[in-house]
Amino acid sequence: MSENKNNLHHFRQDYRAGSLDKTTAQKNPFDQFVLWFDEVVASEIKEANAMIVATSTPTGVPSARTVLLKGYSPEGFIFYTNYDSRKGKELLENPNVAILFYWDILERQIRIEGKAKKYRHSYPILISINALREAKLVRLPRLKAK
Ligand SMILES: Cc1cc2nc3c(=O)[nH]c(=O)nc-3n(C[C@H](O)[C@H](O)[C@H](O)COP(=O)(O)O)c2cc1C
Repeated sequence: MSENKNNLHHFRQDYRAGSLDKTTAQKNPFDQFVLWFDEVVASEIKEANAMIVATSTPTGVPSARTVLLKGYSPEGFIFYTNYDSRKGKELLENPNVAILFYWDILERQIRIEGKAKKYRHSYPILISINALREAKLVRLPRLKAK
């Protein structure tokens, strides 16, 4: 790509603070989530509970949007939405879902994959326990200068 203002290669960060390694990581990914989420809540981060939820149609057309996490437990992660919305309809047809948290100040992201289901009564959606087993806690990669 030619040198112009649309070339973002010079946007670089050297991530050192938010490290996670085998010696410090919790064995259970959910415990790691709780540990990090407590830190996020205690920080100055605005909308600490904002997360990206990705869904897809039965034929695999993806879409993603921000929602607010409204609860979590070893059973899963809860957010509220309208079942008539695009995400609501897609999740009813195809429960496979991915969640992404990204907290730039803490240099951390958490990736969670699992299945969604209606929870208790009308609006909440629960990302089920499978998500926890498949939870991936990922340190941001250190970007290499070319
Ligand atoms: C900070 C933020 C928080 C949001 N929280 C929610 C939420 O908890 N539930 C929700 O349904 N939409 C929420 N939205 C709106 C969604 O991002 C989205 O625009 C809307 O739900 C329609 O999405 P859909 O057409 O893909 O279903 C939020 C948007 C922002 C920017």
